[in-house]
Amino acid sequence: MADGSMPLAFTSEVETATGPIWEKVKTRVTPLEWRLQAPLVAAINALKREKNAVILAHNYMTPEIFHGVGDYVGDSLGLAREAAKSDAAVIVQAGVLFMAETSKVICPDKTVLIPDLRAGCSLAASITGADVRLIKQRYPGVPVVAYINTTAEVKAEIDICCTSANAVQVVEHVAAEWGVDRVILLPDEFLARNVARQTAIKIIAWQGRCEVHERFDATDIIELRAAYPHAEILAHPECPAEVLELADFAGSTAAMTDYVMRRKPRQVVLITECSMADNVACDAPETEFVRPCNLCPHMKRITLENIYEALLHHQFEVKVEASIAARARLAVQRMIDMPPPATPARYDLVKARHHVDVELI
Ligand code: 13P
Ligand code: SF4
Repeated sequence: MADGSMPLAFTSEVETATGPIWEKVKTRVTPLEWRLQAPLVAAINALKREKNAVILAHNYMTPEIFHGVGDYVGDSLGLAREAAKSDAAVIVQAGVLFMAETSKVICPDKTVLIPDLRAGCSLAASITGADVRLIKQRYPGVPVVAYINTTAEVKAEIDICCTSANAVQVVEHVAAEWGVDRVILLPDEFLARNVARQTAIKIIAWQGRCEVHERFDATDIIELRAAYPHAEILAHPECPAEVLELADFAGSTAAMTDYVMRRKPRQVVLITECSMADNVACDAPETEFVRPCNLCPHMKRITLENIYEALLHHQFEVKVEASIAARARLAVQRMIDMPPPATPARYDLVKARHHVDVELI
């Protein structure tokens, strides 16, 4: 709208332009909701073309964002790779701030926008660059791997970045490269414990937690098994190890999507953020999704309304100080340069080593 007001008219042009998207999301979005969402979806898609912008949408975005306006969708690793490849002038990050910072670090010449600057992350907030400097003093000669869910300031202090899709691969790669048998893996304690079960490398961990995944426990899985004996249970590796032990499969958000799309289970439970199941369900009509899930309050700050505002007013631009960005880029680039797995890596729950402990900092 020329005056900046929200485009809310569900005209026949809007209905036609958004028809294919409606066909995809109609099992997860009500017709009433769509009448409000479709004009925004159409307006955002037009603005993207006008401004040479792309939207990178994480798997935890709601379906009208994920399927409606996302140009590249996926897990943290996939979005980082897409940011690196994109030739658009503007990236709108439909995700949280550390993801937008990662895009800016990889693409310093592009404008990176985040629709709400308050979209944080409990893991990213759990550790600072100063903490990492102290850790390196305490463990000289031990490589530092950090999860992508960290600030650019933290990434500037580390040796290599990882995501849940490649954490085991990165830990083993860096240990071999440095010729060491232990690696510091920051900041998610549960991811570190789950990685430790997949490798002979000794893991030193920080006590950060994802506020969404830490809330799942073994009792939840036992109760689900009793209530839905035929359901396949898929869990994210940010969950406690006791949850993964009882699950049928564990992997990043992309690995969970891949599992459902390939195996087409009759009934499935995704132990992760709520929107994930909605997004996969739009593409997997033959699968029934049982939905115990936790909402990520940070991801849910991103809406069609504020994506529209972001594109219209060029807000909120994410900047990373040049010297921090240059050092953080090395850590992210080392990860991106590793060969991508043929399929998103899974955590091998059958071969997992149990009773493995990690050293906590
Ligand atoms: P992935 O998409 O990398 O699995 O991460 C999940 C997550 O919690 C992102 O914030
Ligand atoms: Fe952070 Fe967890 Fe939310 Fe992901 S789901 S952004 S790790 S708090």
